[in-house]
Amino acid sequence: MKGENDPLASFWMPFTANRAYKAHPRQLVSASGMHYRSADGREILDGTAGLWCCNAGHCRPEITEAIAKTAATLDFAPTFQLGHPLAFELAQRVAALMPEGLDRVFFTNSGSESVDTALKIALAVQRARAQGARTRLIGRERGYHGVGFGGISVGGIVGNRRTFGIGLPGTDHLRHTHDLTRNAFSRGFPQHGAELADDLQRLVDLHGAETIAAVIVEPMAGSTGVLLPPVGYLQRLRDICDRHGILLIFDEVITAFGRVGGATAAESWGVTPDILTMAKGLTNAAVPMGAVAVKRELHDAVVDHAPAGIEFFHGYTYSGHPLASAAGLAALDIYSAEGLFDRAKQLGGYWEDAAHDLKGRRSVIDIRTTGLVAGIELEPRPDAPGARATELFHACFDNGLLIRATGDIIALSPPLIVGKAEIDEMFSLLGDLLDVID
Ligand SMILES: Cc1ncc(COP(=O)(O)O)c(C=O)c1O
Repeated sequence: MKGENDPLASFWMPFTANRAYKAHPRQLVSASGMHYRSADGREILDGTAGLWCCNAGHCRPEITEAIAKTAATLDFAPTFQLGHPLAFELAQRVAALMPEGLDRVFFTNSGSESVDTALKIALAVQRARAQGARTRLIGRERGYHGVGFGGISVGGIVGNRRTFGIGLPGTDHLRHTHDLTRNAFSRGFPQHGAELADDLQRLVDLHGAETIAAVIVEPMAGSTGVLLPPVGYLQRLRDICDRHGILLIFDEVITAFGRVGGATAAESWGVTPDILTMAKGLTNAAVPMGAVAVKRELHDAVVDHAPAGIEFFHGYTYSGHPLASAAGLAALDIYSAEGLFDRAKQLGGYWEDAAHDLKGRRSVIDIRTTGLVAGIELEPRPDAPGARATELFHACFDNGLLIRATGDIIALSPPLIVGKAEIDEMFSLLGDLLDVID
């Protein structure tokens, strides 16, 4: 209907309690370095790198200038049957950062698209290898793989699934690894739970390996509250995949580009997947872009052995968009020049101590950290799960700190340029506010 007067009404906001937000809107109007500025003129310390994505901090001139220059030179160029140099250059640079062997790169526009692309690549690889009966895709409970139908089907969050029907047929799920009884307040990776990887063997025994194309996991589940892999878990998954010809996909949409140290969690934690998804930090989030890195032999299985013509029938109008490619190249330059992939290791100990100092604060039932990520789990109110963390999120924002609340878990993942003084500021404010929230 034309003539709507409420300026907040038209935007149907994503993953938002729209009615609550519009009753009490909190808007961001500018950003620089470690801070946002709110519409009411306050500085907000960014404890979440936006949404796990502005790893080099906000509004970096090197990136904004690269985008502006490219917008004025080559606003758009198709990458279907054509191309432009920036996309090729970025693919080569990304390939060089990936774990050994994953040097073929497909561009998308988001994490969700990267996940659906990775699942399709897995199916195409199995078919190209004359394993076309392998169509089953395995995910994990509490996994988040974006919002495409592929991603929600292998994902394990009920809210992403209950409204949308049955999703892809032929998916199944490993159990999640979150176990507060055995692992609460662990430092580093939890000691207990590697045996949960044997769930994959259970699914092989149930479905038959010859029907399973791939298994997808986040090396560290971020969106459901910073769930770290138990010691030995990822390697055990890798071993079971190898034994049965199952492709292993790591969804590194939040962990790639320095979050846990090194360019990828795979590199940092010494387990190499066959396919790796990324997005977010790829362009420092200045222009939407995602990518999928694939082992060369898998790429070759699909591309080299196909009949003449299009080998992989998939792509997006904006795959390798010039502005995103320019932003990506500038972001990678900053990461390298400032050594930002080393920050999580350099600051990880300080960060871990600061987070664990919150032990004993009101309602805190677990603290877990890795690299520059922290999850602080609160006891849910019996009558209102999630309410306590949401109140804390609002209180933090009103007091100048951006955190992320997911269920009753607070997730922190600041830009990698964060300093010790800002870490102190974050955890001291959080501690004070935890004490006043009942
Ligand atoms: C592991 C993982 N996969 C996929 C996605 C989806 O990314 P996007 O929101 O860019 O589609 C996210 C988003 O947070 C994520 O954390």
